[in-house]
Amino acid sequence: MTKNIGSGFRDADSELFGRLLQCLDFMGEIPFFRAYKSHSWASLKIEPGQTILDVACGTGSDLIQLADRYPETNFIGVERSESFLAVAKERAGSRANLQFLPGDAHKIPLEDRRAHGARIDRSLQHVEAPAAVMKEMARVTKIGGHIVACEPDWETFVLFNGEFDDSRKIAGFFQRSIRHPFIGRELASLMNQSGVEPLETHVHAYWTGKVQEADVIFDVRKVADQCAEADLIAQEDVDNWWSLSQQASQKGIFLAALSIVEASGVVGSV
Ligand SMILES: C[S@@+](CC[C@H](N)C(=O)[O-])C[C@H]1O[C@@H](n2cnc3c(N)ncnc32)[C@H](O)[C@@H]1O
Repeated sequence: MTKNIGSGFRDADSELFGRLLQCLDFMGEIPFFRAYKSHSWASLKIEPGQTILDVACGTGSDLIQLADRYPETNFIGVERSESFLAVAKERAGSRANLQFLPGDAHKIPLEDRRAHGARIDRSLQHVEAPAAVMKEMARVTKIGGHIVACEPDWETFVLFNGEFDDSRKIAGFFQRSIRHPFIGRELASLMNQSGVEPLETHVHAYWTGKVQEADVIFDVRKVADQCAEADLIAQEDVDNWWSLSQQASQKGIFLAALSIVEASGVVGSV
């Protein structure tokens, strides 16, 4: 089965990289994504002199903004993809309070208790073992430090263009492309199992009425075609679904929606 954006982030250094980069950059300009990220940064309780870690940092966009907002705080991004790492380093320029390290989230290249706080954003859904990653984040964070995780819960993913059956099949196919589609609801539980005391959970609901926006973020057209390749929907019906979605978008009745769960916790002494 060919990859789509849902499965592509597992190994970003592939022929899909340009598409993945486009997706992250596009989302970075949308007010919803900026707002939930900003909300999650506040939960880190960042102070001058601290070191804050971003695991699976992608293009480094969060850390670049944080480094400018908190010039007296040091920020470290860890990223496995060489391509994303190169983008992050180039975009970070010569900022003295920001560094990016190559590394796997399952084996963070930092010593125990190095960071005062750590975050992970829309990446536990793609890693092999989210519980192991959460334990790594707890290991490298100081006792009393804050950990914040934001992940979608793909059971909340809705596509709708006025037609139910194919819309649900296409949304369901995308959901199954995600390695850990229900990770959003598990975040506080994962923290609890990793010696991190859960503090707060927030659910941020994204929606768009524009099929073009949904296509960049959720690869809608490609996923619809993959449904045809998998014999779930006839290709002719997929083509009709896509036309109907364009019309629905123009009439203001198209809907794509997804909830992102944000959980924060504090590292305990055990
Ligand atoms: C959806 S992107 C999110 C990037 C960034 N956190 C953001 O909010 O824009 C997922 C990121 O996780 C990275 N990733 C996936 N598996 C990883 C792993 N095992 N270790 C480190 N990074 C990983 C991908 O390369 C990609 O940069």
